[in-house]
Amino acid sequence: MPLRCYLRRDLGATGIEMAGSLTVLGLESSCDDTAAACVRLDGSAPAQILSSCVFGQTSLHADFGGIVPEIAARAHAEKLDICVKQALIEADLTLDDIDAVAVTSGPGLIGGVMSGVMCAKGIAVARGLPLIGVNHLAGHALTPRLTDAVAYPYLMLLVSGGHCQLLLVRGVDHFTRMGGTIDDAPGEAFDKSARLLGLPQPGGPSVEKEAAGGDAERFSFPRPLLDRPDCDMSFSGLKTALLRARDQIVGDKGGLTRQDRADLCAGFQAAVADVLAEKTRRALAAAATMLSAAPLLAVAGGVAANRTIRTGLETVSAEFGVDFVAPPLALCTDNAAMIAYAGAELFKTGHRDDMTLSARPRWPLDRTSPSMLGSGKKGAKA
Ligand code: KG4
Ligand code: ZN
Repeated sequence: MPLRCYLRRDLGATGIEMAGSLTVLGLESSCDDTAAACVRLDGSAPAQILSSCVFGQTSLHADFGGIVPEIAARAHAEKLDICVKQALIEADLTLDDIDAVAVTSGPGLIGGVMSGVMCAKGIAVARGLPLIGVNHLAGHALTPRLTDAVAYPYLMLLVSGGHCQLLLVRGVDHFTRMGGTIDDAPGEAFDKSARLLGLPQPGGPSVEKEAAGGDAERFSFPRPLLDRPDCDMSFSGLKTALLRARDQIVGDKGGLTRQDRADLCAGFQAAVADVLAEKTRRALAAAATMLSAAPLLAVAGGVAANRTIRTGLETVSAEFGVDFVAPPLALCTDNAAMIAYAGAELFKTGHRDDMTLSARPRWPLDRTSPSMLGSGKKGAKA
């Protein structure tokens, strides 16, 4: 018992490196997954994920062609306590065993983020526990430390349905954005392209499956912004190029054959993979100049599941002679273990929030670079 009390009372706000164990309950509700998890840090041992529960909402939004924020917020409010209970049961813990509560407090769909923040505040105030607001993007960005104990600094490519950023991760709260999308996120482009071809959602896996039987050379899709020397990306024009190619075939032949669809998917996927690989190459080169050696390359987000994209990134990391880390998919996509872990790292630096913690729709990780344009269907890209 004493250990927990010791942590709370004596190291509570000092930021001193703790020797004992720290068990954090994490909550995530910024998009369309309600998640809770328990993560333990114990001295210098690797971080332990004691439980990680995720309740998805795909079926609730299926009829609407995208996420409906009000439906998402209501579902989070209904599911959060059940999810927390489940995470505690799976970890074989009670709230008595928890040392701190971490919660995504932005960026994301504001109603969902508010649901999570209110739930976390309720637990924290009822149990007298420290409360830590976590940036959702920091949760993703720190995941390679949770899964592979990667040391700072490293380069993270975050690619999902709502995010696309190249981040130099230098510390728990020290990020340099090397580049990002100026419009759609890659997952969003995959989803929209799948819709244009009549393929099921989520579009990424459908397009990848079709592409397996396609000829990536048949259509010459653009590689947007490669003519610019920076690390920024654009994917909305690619989806428009796919639409034009589709309409051209339909105009010529009256419809799409299975092979046409496969070739369109393969061409689209190759273009996305080329852009991500080339911009990552440039970011690694820039980071190598800043740090005097190229850092490790890591990837996270649902799009990281794509084999062609992964292969492109592996090739880039091999060119620089650096390791490539891709966490298991369940920890690449939205989850609360990453929030609990990021919360634990923040806790160790002495960071605490109080009952004034508010939900933030936008929250750039890199406070010095100018904000990115656009806000994807899955929330703020920041
Ligand atoms: O990280 P995630 O689960 O959710 C958020 O966006 O926050 O990512 C989901 C996105 C979807 O847009 C989905 O189409 C894409 O990741 N995705 C893929 C693949 N699997 C999922 N994109 C390309 N190839 C895949 N195999
Ligand atoms: Zn996410």
